[in-house]
Amino acid sequence: MLIVSENLSDLRAEVLSWKQNNEVVGFVPTMGNLHEGHLSLISKIRRCGATKTIVSIYVNPKQFGPEEDYSKYPRTLDEDIKLLKKLNVDCVFCPSDKEIYPPNEKNLITTNNPSLMNELCGRQRPGHFYGVLLVVNKLMNIVRPDIAIFGQKDYQQYILIKDMVQQLFTSIDIVLAPIIRENDGLAMSSRNSYLNPDQRSKAVYLYESLVRASKKIYKNAGDYMSILDTEIERLNKDDLNVDYLELRKTDNLSNVEDYKNISGQYILLGAIRLGETRLIDNIIL
Ligand code: PAJ
Repeated sequence: MLIVSENLSDLRAEVLSWKQNNEVVGFVPTMGNLHEGHLSLISKIRRCGATKTIVSIYVNPKQFGPEEDYSKYPRTLDEDIKLLKKLNVDCVFCPSDKEIYPPNEKNLITTNNPSLMNELCGRQRPGHFYGVLLVVNKLMNIVRPDIAIFGQKDYQQYILIKDMVQQLFTSIDIVLAPIIRENDGLAMSSRNSYLNPDQRSKAVYLYESLVRASKKIYKNAGDYMSILDTEIERLNKDDLNVDYLELRKTDNLSNVEDYKNISGQYILLGAIRLGETRLIDNIIL
């Protein structure tokens, strides 16, 4: 039976009773509007040993900039709950803003990772990762899971969370799940629903560029900066406004100093804007 909990203390009592029965608690944080990408996290966390699963659905206001899509972000709680029931999820936690950010809470404490937070997606979205780490910290402290899972689609988010958990000695295993794609290769995302048909047909060009560039880079065909420049030019010509297309090291997203084609060591990340919609994707080489 799926327990729908809006209340922090009910949720804590439930988790406590599971822990007393030696259940392994798996946590899947989301902002809802669930698609197969989100659902794949549930199956993966079970394969990683979770015997109880909690999915949180909370559109976190602190991770959206003032000009961003907070108010229009798709909220589909009833449909989401139906999907979670079908998957036999144990609990869905959908707290209110007041529960997560009590009105008397001023001067919010946040964790800070000044370099990585302001690079890649952070450059175009100042403050975004502060909001993400703040809410993930709060949610993990409420749920106190044994395992939590995050998708590779938001790889920078995953690295920042992994670093935070390690530095703060939070005893939660952080698991990475692969990107689930549409048939043509476009990474699934709640924001894909903003695209009109013309934009939707072009959205896949980002993935195609990542594939093309990563193959060339892996084969060491030329210097990687010029390979990326060619793809950036091609995307911009097709009206996909490139925010960034960058090769980084997979383990900590640091810059690449001297490229050697060793499998798994590098990741190619990209972000584009199609009209008002910002899409991200990446490929590990
Ligand atoms: P949201 O965008 O809803 O994503 C929830 C989780 O699903 C994240 O870990 C994300 O990486 C993963 N995900 C999204 N699309 C995916 C896809 N196509 N394949 C695999 N996994 C995918 O990320 C957030 O919410 C928020 O920042 C959150 C962590 C919940 C904090 O508010």
